[in-house]
Amino acid sequence: MTKVCIIGAGPSGLSALRAFSTARDQGIQIPDITCFEKQNNWGGQWNFTWRTSLDENGEPVHSSMYRHLWSNGPKECLEFSDYSFEEHFGKSIPSFPPRSVLRDYIVGRAERSNVKELVKFNHSVRLVEKDKEGFKVTVEDINKKKVIKEYFDYVIVATGHFSVPNVPEFEGIETFTGRVMHAHDFRSAAEFIGKDVLVVGASYSAEDIGLQCKKYGAKTVSFTFRTAPMGFIWPDGVDERPLLTSVNRSTVTFRDGSNKNFDAIILCTGYLHSFPFLPEDLRLVTNNRLFSPGLFKGVVWNDNTHLFYIGMQDQWYTFTMFDAEAWYTRDVILERIKLPVKEERTLDMNKWDERENKLEDAYEMIDYQADYIRALLEFSDYPSFNLNLTQKEFKAWKKEKEKSILGYRDKSYCSPVTNKQSPVHHTKWWEAMDDTIDNYLKG
Ligand SMILES: Cc1cc2nc3c(=O)[nH]c(=O)nc-3n(C[C@H](O)[C@H](O)[C@H](O)COP(=O)(O)OP(=O)(O)OC[C@H]3O[C@@H](n4cnc5c(N)ncnc54)[C@H](O)[C@@H]3O)c2cc1C
Ligand SMILES: NC(=O)c1ccc[n+]([C@@H]2O[C@H](COP(=O)([O-])OP(=O)(O)OC[C@H]3O[C@@H](n4cnc5c(N)ncnc54)[C@H](OP(=O)(O)O)[C@@H]3O)[C@@H](O)[C@H]2O)c1
Repeated sequence: MTKVCIIGAGPSGLSALRAFSTARDQGIQIPDITCFEKQNNWGGQWNFTWRTSLDENGEPVHSSMYRHLWSNGPKECLEFSDYSFEEHFGKSIPSFPPRSVLRDYIVGRAERSNVKELVKFNHSVRLVEKDKEGFKVTVEDINKKKVIKEYFDYVIVATGHFSVPNVPEFEGIETFTGRVMHAHDFRSAAEFIGKDVLVVGASYSAEDIGLQCKKYGAKTVSFTFRTAPMGFIWPDGVDERPLLTSVNRSTVTFRDGSNKNFDAIILCTGYLHSFPFLPEDLRLVTNNRLFSPGLFKGVVWNDNTHLFYIGMQDQWYTFTMFDAEAWYTRDVILERIKLPVKEERTLDMNKWDERENKLEDAYEMIDYQADYIRALLEFSDYPSFNLNLTQKEFKAWKKEKEKSILGYRDKSYCSPVTNKQSPVHHTKWWEAMDDTIDNYLKG
């Protein structure tokens, strides 16, 4: 029987498991599947942990999530088309849930898919090698401290790419008298109450971690950008400065010559794609972008079409995109999709690469990624949903953010699956300190 190895049981790996279980439930013969997950539970990034650095098994801590994280995009734009929020929670819920609510939803679908027996938890993949018999996968059973080697016909890499921090060096940073950390290790704003915090970066982590520090009581927050400021209308006590040029004990100097004293520096400088278990000829090398070099349809390794990656792109869309990729991957493996020859695949990839290089703004990026999903869905029977609506909603959300960085999460959006407008949350996000699932679902 054909054997498939899935590496990682985060949302992308769970999409792959769901795609196969859906086929199985339709009476289709599916391959022998094993999913290796190095954590003791599924959910990937959504498994919040207090730990930093190494986990209880001495493995690098995977999740970069922090205590009071709320969805930064409307949940309607990531809603599974085969499992609506309403189906999971038994009612329509507001558009920007906190982390625990999203985790409940992701795990809820996985649990209903009857796939847990396919996942080997506490199993870390150490090496994947290709030889004439197929992919030889070396895995460590962390509990038993035992190394297993097993052959597979197909490998699906679903290990995420927001876990290994990109940590730049700044002149004099070693003399800084306060705390320096990367966003990957940020767990709670509590330690920054009453502090002056410098946040390096101008993307989602910077915006959200900086605001969270302010919301929970930091004295001031300064953002420092390399390319362009975020340019939102910030609350009192928050400002944006050009990139820092040097640090001298507690004083930081910026490109415009200004300086300020800080108690902490949080590097929200992004993440590195890292696949230490893959040899060079199978390894995706990329930064955080929409087109993934070397991947046909964003998933099939062009040099070896038995190797797939899911979820490796920069992410406007998340769970829906992972599903689209998973259904496509499944159907290639089940031989329901016949891949074109390599030259044709390369031409197709070049088109997407060139198109990305011409994108001028966020609105074009949203259209690009929606078209990418559309191109995948053409080939599979992933249940239809209103993708056009999500495009419109992403654009409306972007505008709402420009209007109010503190208020955009108080808006409601319409479900592309049930076509229902979501209710408005009972508390404004800036005032909502209790983000427990019970409190969120109340009312
Ligand atoms: C701070 C933060 C906030 C975010 N907020 C949002 C949000 O609000 N909304 C949204 O839609 N997205 C958000 N994201 C994006 C997030 O990446 C996706 O939601 C999603 O978690 C990606 O799923 P994934 O399965 O591709 O990767 P991950 O969630 O990273 O899961 C990868 C899995 O692979 C496992 N793994 C890794 N290496 C190995 C190995 N060698 N062997 C075995 N298992 C391995 C890991 O343990 C993990 O379980 C956020 C990301 C971050 C970092
Ligand atoms: N739910 C939430 O609210 C939430 C919160 C946090 C993160 N997330 C998710 O997490 C993912 C990762 O986001 P991210 O912001 O961590 O990464 P990111 O989007 O890749 O952004 C990285 C940032 O670091 C900056 N940077 C990189 N190297 C630098 C250097 N040497 N000096 C100065 N700045 C540097 C980049 O600057 P340039 O602009 O100059 O390139 C960019 O602003 C996203 O998918 C996001 O949606 C979500």
